[in-house]
Amino acid sequence: MYLGLDVGTSGLRALLADEAGAVVGVADAGYGVSHPATGWSEQTPGDWIAACSEAVAALREAHPTEVAAIKGIGLSGQMHGATLLDKAGEVLRPCILWNDTRSAVEAAKLDQTPDVRELSGNIVFPGFTAPKLAWVKANEPDVFDNVAKVLLPKDYLRYWLSGEFISDMSDSAGTSWLDAGARDWSDQLLDVSGMRRDQMPDLVEGAAPGGELRRELCREWGIEGPVVIAGGGGDNAVAACGAGCFREGEGFVSLGTSGVLLAAKESYAPDPASAVHTFCHAVPETWYQMGVILAATDCLNWLSRTLGQTPATLAGDLPDSISGPSSITFLPYLSGERTPHNDSRIRATFSGIDIGDGPAQMTQATMEGVAFALRDCLEALKGTGTNLNRLLAVGGGTQSPFWVETLATVLNVPLDIPDKGEFGAALGAARLAMTACGADAATVMTAPPVSHTIDPRSELVPAYNEAYARYSALYPSMKALMT
Ligand code: XUL
Repeated sequence: MYLGLDVGTSGLRALLADEAGAVVGVADAGYGVSHPATGWSEQTPGDWIAACSEAVAALREAHPTEVAAIKGIGLSGQMHGATLLDKAGEVLRPCILWNDTRSAVEAAKLDQTPDVRELSGNIVFPGFTAPKLAWVKANEPDVFDNVAKVLLPKDYLRYWLSGEFISDMSDSAGTSWLDAGARDWSDQLLDVSGMRRDQMPDLVEGAAPGGELRRELCREWGIEGPVVIAGGGGDNAVAACGAGCFREGEGFVSLGTSGVLLAAKESYAPDPASAVHTFCHAVPETWYQMGVILAATDCLNWLSRTLGQTPATLAGDLPDSISGPSSITFLPYLSGERTPHNDSRIRATFSGIDIGDGPAQMTQATMEGVAFALRDCLEALKGTGTNLNRLLAVGGGTQSPFWVETLATVLNVPLDIPDKGEFGAALGAARLAMTACGADAATVMTAPPVSHTIDPRSELVPAYNEAYARYSALYPSMKALMT
């Protein structure tokens, strides 16, 4: 038996898989995010541990024999969070999360430092880990002086599980301290943000062993042991393992709270200028590239709150099929944008609203705006030589046939919709546990069964291309007005 643990932003998911990788049981435990100031986003690391205990207890109750037979654990986690520990291993302050923008100034400064983009393979985005430490150094010097280790969220959970300071390359690639090509910490990158290698955990590949479950926890959870803990990875890399995307040309598009377009790469070809993220994959000798948009279903959530309706009602009022683009253009930058603009100050816009337009037209424009933002990600990936002929479509937004057909047509790529079931980061984590115990990645990391494929509506592609051109032209004007 294998256990996958995914430390998400709103909760932890524990998934139990059998020897064949089939899902035996799943348990979730939630926790909160605090926003003590505008743009701040923090979590108490102890909450991840409490959630892990709660979720494992629920699995034990439902599947006692299977939990007792666990021999491997895999970890996945929200990326970029800075969990700061003193030399006694105590947490120094709340973890600063991936969606915290307080360190925008520090990020811009680091990003302009010679060699930083080249070595890390990425723009230093405000949500990444290194600028957070620069912020702590400037604003909480007493905390900074006592930092003995910096751990990413899933690696803090590993520290509790195993007592060891270990990370993997995929998650560490989001710190701006890793040389993503060499898959190792870069002393130069550490040096420019005033950090040292001894403050970093040891590195292992995501699919390799990275620790062992403490004897006390084995006893508490009724497991004989020993239990190997896999290196694991950042949530997008591990979700790609769950979806079976690790060979060149394999990828997925996610219409979740935020939006992701991810492509697996068998070689390292970063292009920081386009705001594409290039990170190590959780599978050895592979990387992945992704475009990240900060608000996808969050845009529909915002619209539904504003109009006093549920997202399902708004989406349900649209037909199942598209018939052409809206005359309203929506820029979905409710919280700024990563790919392709790296602009934390830009905000969302509706343009071209007619007096006859109402909720349905606004909903259509919102879905199109998100699709165009993901088209920007596709174009950015194409610019690095990445070609995607079909994509798996995942995330809550794929429940709307209208949205998926819009997206397929805007991207001009067929979208495979998986059967209901588990194929996310918790399953990917369980699969990494299997590889750490000796299984072959290609055997366990299979794609989920496809329920159906939504093809682009080829006759409408030119009209959506024109609408995309209008969308693209709007950003520079809005930027000039807003910044
Ligand atoms: C990736 C990113 C998010 C977080 C939270 O760069 O910031 O996907 O990993 O899920």
